[in-house]
Amino acid sequence: MSRPPYVSFSVRPRGRRPGSADIVDAVLAERARGGLPAGSRLAPVRVLEQQLGISKNTVQVAYDELVARGVLETREREGVFVADAPDAPAVPAGLEPPPLPALRPAPPMTGGGPHRDGISLSVIFIDPDLLPTEKLAECARSVLRQPGFANLYDAQGYRPLREAIAARLNARAIACDPDEVIITTGSQQALDIVARALEVRRIGIETPVYAYARLLFESLGLAITPLRLDPFAGIDLDAWDRQLAAGRPGLVYAISSFHNPTGYSYASHELAGLLELAARHRFAILEDDWGSDMLSGSEYRPMLRMLGGGNVLYVNSFTKKVLPSLRIGYLVADRALVPSLVAMKRLSTLGGAWLSEAILAEFLERGYYDGHVETMQRATDARYRACLAALEELMPDGVRWTTPGGGPSLWLELPRAVSMPALVAALAARKVWIDPTTAAFCGEPHLHGLRIGYAYPKEPELRRGLEILAEEIRRLLP
Ligand SMILES: Cc1ncc(COP(=O)(O)O)c(C=O)c1O
Repeated sequence: MSRPPYVSFSVRPRGRRPGSADIVDAVLAERARGGLPAGSRLAPVRVLEQQLGISKNTVQVAYDELVARGVLETREREGVFVADAPDAPAVPAGLEPPPLPALRPAPPMTGGGPHRDGISLSVIFIDPDLLPTEKLAECARSVLRQPGFANLYDAQGYRPLREAIAARLNARAIACDPDEVIITTGSQQALDIVARALEVRRIGIETPVYAYARLLFESLGLAITPLRLDPFAGIDLDAWDRQLAAGRPGLVYAISSFHNPTGYSYASHELAGLLELAARHRFAILEDDWGSDMLSGSEYRPMLRMLGGGNVLYVNSFTKKVLPSLRIGYLVADRALVPSLVAMKRLSTLGGAWLSEAILAEFLERGYYDGHVETMQRATDARYRACLAALEELMPDGVRWTTPGGGPSLWLELPRAVSMPALVAALAARKVWIDPTTAAFCGEPHLHGLRIGYAYPKEPELRRGLEILAEEIRRLLP
């Protein structure tokens, strides 16, 4: 049977060990103050005995006296309780509950996970059925059996995982050392610690951009220089040059491959152009490589980190590719920056989830990651191709889409005549869920469309969702 927690009261005899009279006085005084409402459970005899360093008998004598006076009552197998007393106030007189803290307005958090029923068309996760839960369970069992493991953590992250990550990046021509890798709670924490460690107070970001990056930077008080990205026209480097010269951000955050939400990947001259602007306008670069590994061939893309060398800060994550609930991402930064960045991480979490880190390290070490990626890519490649074929077949004239060739999603651009709120509502009525991406834009959206996540729904579901989407677009066209 569960028991309520007991209410404590202080017994403070001056300069001697308390006797039973002290306990009686303390209970009466506490009750008079309103601190022992009727029905409260008192500390069991053995607890007071230990706490006060006195004999069990002394406590028992005090409780017996209080029972005799009608102040306490004993309930069999439950303990000692304050007896009903009509005059005992439930809340001490004159005390009001403290006010709730004042909060800043909550950021407009849209999106989120998949819906339970119907078809989620904008979700950027991989279908959970493609994720390696069995192999991870095997690794988890093995890790938990390691002696002495449970008590440890390293604020920078589990060293074998950092080593495995560095080795994999080196194999992709991204030079780095395990000491330059910081494991984070998802790559979201990497963005957070970079933003908090920065001296600069302005950051350049693409618009549209991964919405939670923009909201995070804004919530940390960073001013934003928006850099317009049109996935159909590419990057207007002259316009970026003017915006960067005017805003003078200290850092530019760039999702240079399989950009979220547009699926755009920077062309080589755009990567070089951004690096040239960084040198001229003296801003640092934070590159978010969230979409690597999700389709075959995606690791062959050139990256800012490859071309710009070790000064480019780089983040990536295992959320989408291995398991969202592991919450493991990482940040690669020049070793001179690592102490400050790790200090920021410590301030927010002390250390990451070491257990997840060790499980993932084991998963990489055993070669399971490579096997998993191969199987997953066969499925995601097929879904990507099926998605493009369905769009080709189903979408009316005037609808365009990007062809990312990597990452989990593409951008579907609609004619302006299609009202987005009306489309969202019409689809919701048929249980097809899309993400209105307004939060991804700084200011008025210059694109008019939505993100299609092709890696989450199964092929027949994706097909059905796109059929319904195409029908509703046609209905909303004049
Ligand atoms: C571009 C981009 N970066 C970072 C993240 C953060 O993801 P996580 O913290 O799960 O690694 C996301 C999440 O969707 C994303 O889309």
